[in-house]
Amino acid sequence: MGRRVCAVGFGRVFADRLSWVAVMKIPLDRHASKPLYLQIRDRLKHMIEKGLLPSGTQLPSIRTLAEAVQVNKLTVIEAYSVLEGDGLIQARQGAGYFVSNAPTPAPRMASTFAPVQSVVIPQQRSQSFYTLYTNSLKARHQAGMIDFGLGSPSPPEDLQRLARRAVTQIGETLFDYDFPQGQLLLRQQVAHMLIQLGLEVSADDLIITAGSQQGVYLTASHYIRPGDWVIVESPTYPGILAMLEQLGAQVIGIPMTAEGINLTLLEQHLRSHQPKLICTISTLQNPTGITMPQSHRQALLELADRYRCPILEDNAYEGLNFEPVPLPLKAIDQNGWVTYLGTFSKTLMPGLRVGYLVANPDTHRALLEQKLMLDLHASTVSQAIVSEYLASGHHRRHLNHLRATYQQNRNAMLQALEQHFPEAACWTVPQGGIFLWVQLPEQCSVQAICHEALAENILIGNGAAFFPGQQGYPAMRLSFLRPPEEIERGIATLGRIVRSHCISLRSL
Ligand SMILES: Cc1ncc(COP(=O)(O)O)c(C=O)c1O
Repeated sequence: MGRRVCAVGFGRVFADRLSWVAVMKIPLDRHASKPLYLQIRDRLKHMIEKGLLPSGTQLPSIRTLAEAVQVNKLTVIEAYSVLEGDGLIQARQGAGYFVSNAPTPAPRMASTFAPVQSVVIPQQRSQSFYTLYTNSLKARHQAGMIDFGLGSPSPPEDLQRLARRAVTQIGETLFDYDFPQGQLLLRQQVAHMLIQLGLEVSADDLIITAGSQQGVYLTASHYIRPGDWVIVESPTYPGILAMLEQLGAQVIGIPMTAEGINLTLLEQHLRSHQPKLICTISTLQNPTGITMPQSHRQALLELADRYRCPILEDNAYEGLNFEPVPLPLKAIDQNGWVTYLGTFSKTLMPGLRVGYLVANPDTHRALLEQKLMLDLHASTVSQAIVSEYLASGHHRRHLNHLRATYQQNRNAMLQALEQHFPEAACWTVPQGGIFLWVQLPEQCSVQAICHEALAENILIGNGAAFFPGQQGYPAMRLSFLRPPEEIERGIATLGRIVRSHCISLRSL
């Protein structure tokens, strides 16, 4: 056995011979409905969690394991990719796959987020999304700016090479007109990703959109006519608020609790206003970072069913969770109420403008026709780049890297907030994504804080922009994409500014 271990280059291989034999003899049921790669994943996961494969253990090479359990190499690649995505194993350049070190525990800082629960039916328009968006873009490009405002991921290192390969491989068809639903290969790849999230979906159910912003427009404009009532979470993503106002909808902002939208207030307003749509960011919500638990999701769907109200589920932060998240609403929706949106903006590059929409059988054609009116189809070049990236197998590795980096950054931000912010402030502790939400004492002028912060080269999101008609409590959204040293420096300065405002309030 020892000789064989050396021959396949295992180095410091398994903790003992039994573990090695167990991995090489993973029992597979070739008639089961569970795919083979998931059977391999589950077996290895079990062994890692039981400590049979300790941290640092090297796994068999893809070829060795494929031969040992008599599956295609792609099946092993897929199993290793899922394990890597779960953070259980890591690929080391040129050396193979190793069991990860136990993740560093998150700081034990429970969220004290418990805002006043008042419904907002705005009397005035929300802040201009155009001004908000362009001002933030201008500010973040200033030299020396610490950007806690907007959030774009750093692209994968090899993106340029992937982009070149995508363009050369697909050739002349790449630059021709295409069908509005988007390229078949990309739709198949996205369907495969979504099946792993629990959605029952095929390439035919998908529409590739120009970012999820376009998905919001397609869905909202399908369900809403001027004057209709629409429910949003309060606070929520300003791009949704702006879109609804543009369509002439009357918005009802139902407050977020620490577990998601307030279901009691939601039911009252479903009964009293008969809204035409509920917009929710069910997982890693923007701006609070809150993920709705499974029971909350089930209850929300039951309400949608009872009051016959469709749901727009915007899952823009899909894949950036540090901990397992519940199934999307779309995955447990029995009666076709949910339209699901996803995007590559938060995990790959927003500039590509590639998102996707999972429609219902009865709305698919109408949404597709509307998409054709807007822009004929999403950019074929961008779609080919995303396809190439997904096919290269880098996606899971990149996601894994983003999650690990953002988790460290989030921890650094939580620690810095604890250290530098006044006691009267409270914040959410998101289990993923890129933002957290800080609630400040009543009467605090967040606008003044934003101005002073900007003068010290710190960009933050004024919470007012996330409430319908800016009618909410004082708050700010902070993105934790910057590295820990920058976060510590920026939050120390911001904390000083916020404290000075809290002190001046006390002396009033
Ligand atoms: C919740 C949510 N939906 C949609 C979008 C728009 O993203 P995209 O770049 O995919 O259009 C964003 C961007 O920040 C967002 O936070």
